[in-house]
Amino acid sequence: MSVSGSGTQTIAASSGVDLTPLDDVFQRHRGQRGALIPILQDAQAIYGYLPKEVLQEIAHHLDMSNSTVYGVATFYAQFYLERHGRHQLKLCDGTACHVKGAPIVWAAVEDTFGLQPGDTTADGELSLEIVYCMGSCALAPVAVLDGVVIGRLRQEMLLRRLQEKMHSTS
Ligand code: FES
Repeated sequence: MSVSGSGTQTIAASSGVDLTPLDDVFQRHRGQRGALIPILQDAQAIYGYLPKEVLQEIAHHLDMSNSTVYGVATFYAQFYLERHGRHQLKLCDGTACHVKGAPIVWAAVEDTFGLQPGDTTADGELSLEIVYCMGSCALAPVAVLDGVVIGRLRQEMLLRRLQEKMHSTS
């Protein structure tokens, strides 16, 4: 449920999520057929993920049921329903990467940052996701850090890069 404050400010009452930026998104896709996915993409670009309140507002705007919008958002891997960290680490534990030592790297990340797959560090800096083959098996073990593929991974090298990233301002 959302409530209107003064002016155009609209805040989801239960969470404090500011829904105002959605106005521009809705405007941009007004009258467009099949607007749901582009709207979800734009909303995620704004919020970094898709909070429940945002999904509800989109459903309300498009006159769809919450379950329809939620179903689409959960079907596509590109959409996140949980807040993600400033930096995203995907570790591959597919067969080739597993054999070449991915579990050792995975354990080092867990030990160092206290992260389980799907978690984000408490400071919001780093999210960890485990995937199963990224199509770069020749480079196993493989990780992707903020969209950059890192092959022939070694735990010291990855931990160093993570520390550098997390202490950078960019
Ligand atoms: S198994 Fe890791 S990239 Fe294929």
